[in-house]
Amino acid sequence: MSSNNIILTGFMGSGKSTIGRRLAKELDTYFLDTDILIETFENMKISDIFEKFGEEKFREMEKRCFEWIKKDVQNTVISVGGGFPVFIPEIKEAGVVIYLKVSFEDILKRMNEKEIEKRPLFKDIQKAKELFEYRNKIYEKLADYIIINNDLNKAIATIKEILCK
Ligand code: S3P
Repeated sequence: MSSNNIILTGFMGSGKSTIGRRLAKELDTYFLDTDILIETFENMKISDIFEKFGEEKFREMEKRCFEWIKKDVQNTVISVGGGFPVFIPEIKEAGVVIYLKVSFEDILKRMNEKEIEKRPLFKDIQKAKELFEYRNKIYEKLADYIIINNDLNKAIATIKEILCK
């Protein structure tokens, strides 16, 4: 199946879901968030999945999600979890990959206690920073386009411009 999905990647807190939802609305298409999909499937919060089953099991769930997307999803804006492209480098097989790039300092500013609580891999800030530095290279390597997300409206406008080309 030829995929014309738009896949948003980026570190935790980079705005993938917010932008994805808005973009889908503006493009009059569908929106899907892999974390929400997994939570719905399992009827559990991501943080509970990590606690009860561990990260490895969560990555398996993401892989299953990817297989389904690749096979059955089209015309959809897809926001994926921060680790998704790291563990599934063949992500491009499911659509055009856009990396929403934000500095770690800006991500920290956006994160409040509730947002950190939802994300097991953000609880230790020092470790999260190291993870960010490691992953940034992977996000860049796997992206068809890199968008700096300092301003929501500008980021959406730039993505729309790219897609119309
Ligand atoms: C993760 C990011 C989270 C979620 C899980 C693991 C990661 O999604 O998938 O907590 O490995 O970076 P967001 O990027 O939407 O926070």
